[in-house]
Amino acid sequence: MNRTIKNCCSRLLPSALAVLISLFPPLLLSSCGGEPEAADTLRVGVSLYAQDDTFISSVVQNLERTAQEAEAEAGLKINLSIVDGRSNQTTQLEQVDRFLARGYGVLCVNIVDRTAAAVVIDKAQAAGVPLIFFNRQPVDEDIQRGDQIYYVGVNAQGNGALQGELVLEAWQENQAELDRNGDGVLQYAMLEGEPGHQDALLRTEYSVKTLTDAGVKVEKIASDTANWNRGQASARVSLWIQQGLCDQIEVIFSNNDDMALGAIDALKAAGADFLPLIVGVDATAPALESIAAGELYGTVLNDADGMAQAMVDLSLALWAGEDPADVVELEDEHYVWLPYREVTQENLSEFMTS
Ligand code: BGC
Ligand code: CA
Repeated sequence: MNRTIKNCCSRLLPSALAVLISLFPPLLLSSCGGEPEAADTLRVGVSLYAQDDTFISSVVQNLERTAQEAEAEAGLKINLSIVDGRSNQTTQLEQVDRFLARGYGVLCVNIVDRTAAAVVIDKAQAAGVPLIFFNRQPVDEDIQRGDQIYYVGVNAQGNGALQGELVLEAWQENQAELDRNGDGVLQYAMLEGEPGHQDALLRTEYSVKTLTDAGVKVEKIASDTANWNRGQASARVSLWIQQGLCDQIEVIFSNNDDMALGAIDALKAAGADFLPLIVGVDATAPALESIAAGELYGTVLNDADGMAQAMVDLSLALWAGEDPADVVELEDEHYVWLPYREVTQENLSEFMTS
């Protein structure tokens, strides 16, 4: 996938262009021998870990829209080149090499394997190109290796804890209904994202910890990884149904919405006469629909729109040699943390776009 967003710059008067050039002095330089970047064009290379991931594809949609809006506002052209790493680190490193060889102004990397971040950093630093990691968080030691390295994402511990909060509130308000076997203990199952992914590890831990910290007794009935994937989650839950586990499960925590929807698919396909309380993370469009239909109980917003906005704002500032702290809120000089919120039927209308 390689998209060029058309712009309004061709309509700019020559004098306006001269002003732009004086405002953005680094732009006639090419970083490592590739084609020089035109003064009025920012080229951003975006490499995704996997384009078919529901959450990532919503980040992409937001990136395209946000870049278009920024073009109109800043009166320049933003060329987003978006490529799919297809869950293969070698492929992604080749994509990074290609962007750098072609003199892209900024790289945005949704890294396949977080342990490979150092290699990407070395390449970008050698070419003098700013690097923005997003959604898949490298270790802090890597992020701190230079001043042109950033991470844009959501704090996984925080949104995991908020997912736990959703369940805690439901338990406190309606224990009689939720505690189906009436033993005072919350029996749960956990659907985990990709092993080793920060968001999977921390959401798994902190969702349950919120309940235990509040004094709720819990019992894990089942848990498995489904790699963020709806089909895999559905297969795991079908197995739980066959094993007779689903009759005991009062709550299903899912590290993301797609897997939560997979659980619902399996339960409905098996003709379950009731659904346990199921919670996800992301607030994807299908998840919001499922909440509206009364199937998914709730989710935690993983702000794809805010993520895209921060990436575009950061890219523009870095390219223009401006202080990024002027356009985004930076923590520890390298991190942009996006806010997260809980979503249930009660406040759903705030999140539905149509
Ligand atoms: C999202 C998942 C997504 C994963 C990809 C997580 O933050 O919640 O839906 O699959 O990122 O890296
Ligand atoms: Ca119980």
